[in-house]
Amino acid sequence: MMRLDGKIALVTGASSGLGRHFAQRLAAQGATVLAAARRSTPLEALSEEIAREGGACHPVTMDVTDPASVAEAFARIARDGHGPLAILVNNAGVATTRAAIEMSAEEWQGVLAPNLTGAFLVARHAAQAMEGAGGSIVNVASILGERVAKGLAAYAASKAALIQLTKALALEWAPRGIRVNALAPGYIETDLNRAFFASPAGQRLIARIPQQRLGQMEDLDGPLLLLCSQASAYMTGAVIAIDGGHLVSGL
Ligand SMILES: NC(=O)c1ccc[n+]([C@@H]2O[C@H](COP(=O)([O-])OP(=O)(O)OC[C@H]3O[C@@H](n4cnc5c(N)ncnc54)[C@H](OP(=O)(O)O)[C@@H]3O)[C@@H](O)[C@H]2O)c1
Repeated sequence: MMRLDGKIALVTGASSGLGRHFAQRLAAQGATVLAAARRSTPLEALSEEIAREGGACHPVTMDVTDPASVAEAFARIARDGHGPLAILVNNAGVATTRAAIEMSAEEWQGVLAPNLTGAFLVARHAAQAMEGAGGSIVNVASILGERVAKGLAAYAASKAALIQLTKALALEWAPRGIRVNALAPGYIETDLNRAFFASPAGQRLIARIPQQRLGQMEDLDGPLLLLCSQASAYMTGAVIAIDGGHLVSGL
């Protein structure tokens, strides 16, 4: 039920971390993956790795904050015959840690532009590229879209807005057969945050998670495949937390 054979899936932010992992998982389920990000070298390496494992993946260079870059990337996807699109994993995002009182307008925009505006731009193009055949859009939000933490005002605001965008698009696009849902990961260990979580501050944070451990990227696989596949045919506008109980930690 969770196989994706013959489906074309676009994953943004596929050059590292969660997005790279999502691309590998979708390819392993039989999807042809279009791996998008600004840096082409890691996308090419990922595509070769997936090909060696018997899957299909093509790099798509795209800056989600630049409307012209997004439009050009979708034109390239259509020109290369990768259609109709069936799945979008809207994963590209940045987290800048800065006390709100010190945050410049540029830094604020630097978070809101990829995390919110970029997700909208890519979703709108993707909905068109689904060509009336329906599809599934999965927005990668965060538990910080529902709770807050110091130094992350812009990030938390961007992810809360992404959750509302998920619901608004689910409502508008249900008649087109497009489902729009969100994953809200808690703290997931990646190459970029491993050193922090090994530090005393990181260890204190882990102690506050009810399951007392960090999430691993594999913890996201089930929910990802659920939302991307027909197993969730009657789900739209839903937000799924994958956080070891962090959102329900006691006050
Ligand atoms: N790791 C966690 O604990 C965690 C928890 C909750 C939610 N998340 C969310 O999961 C997503 C991935 O996070 P991650 O931890 O995997 O971070 P990451 O390793 O820093 O990956 C971020 C990805 O986004 C891409 N990206 C950034 N700006 C972009 C732009 N303007 N245009 C196109 N691509 C862009 C980056 O590629 P380029 O630099 O090559 O463009 C990179 O592939 C983010 O939305 C994040 O908020 C992560």
